Amino acid sequence: MSDRPRRKSRLVVLISGGGSNLQALINSCHQGKINADIVGVISNVAGVKGLQRATDANITATVVNHLDFQNRQEFDQQLAAEINLFNPDLVVLAGFMRILTPEFVDQFMGRMINIHPSLLPKYTGLNTHQRAIDAGDEIAGATVHFVTPELDGGPPILQGQVDISDQDTSVSLASKVLKIEHKIFPLAISWFCEHRLELVSHKVMFDGKALNESDLLYSDN
Ligand code: GRF
Repeated sequence: MSDRPRRKSRLVVLISGGGSNLQALINSCHQGKINADIVGVISNVAGVKGLQRATDANITATVVNHLDFQNRQEFDQQLAAEINLFNPDLVVLAGFMRILTPEFVDQFMGRMINIHPSLLPKYTGLNTHQRAIDAGDEIAGATVHFVTPELDGGPPILQGQVDISDQDTSVSLASKVLKIEHKIFPLAISWFCEHRLELVSHKVMFDGKALNESDLLYSDN
């Protein structure tokens, strides 16, 4: 294999809010931990902090407001068109709070990654932290996964865990989980950009081998 550095991947990041995961990705790209450039950020909500984070980092930031469209299909078509303008290698859903149509997902299958704030398959959908507390769980966490048409159901790549204490509220737990999100998301994306991750027949391949459940857990060591 040649020692020539591989070309940087092109990332488009989709957000709906604060964009702390986006910030973690911006920082990791700047630090060279991810061999990529974030070439565009798209939000479905105007005025959110994540858009400012993008602008501050000199990244093109666009709003495609779902309220401007008659239905999900029309929104998704416009969203796909905006994404494709950036010609991305990977589409990153970083706190993007919209359910996507199967037609949209199919276009980007194998090159679209999401982070979800629970230890999937537990707690797909919303209010994950309160649900984990209500269930009496002792651990919570986050999952990075390839996106498939099934909501939060795509094959997992990496999970990070945190302890739930007796004092935790959904707010304190969300902030603990965000910290681990900021570690596992850049790491998983760095693997994709190094061409170590691939989605083959709905299975995650890492360095050419199918990932097992025991491979999923992130550890700081
Ligand atoms: C994160 O917890 C993410 O997992 C969830 O929404 C939150 C977004 O946070 N889908 P941020 O916008 O990245 O700060």
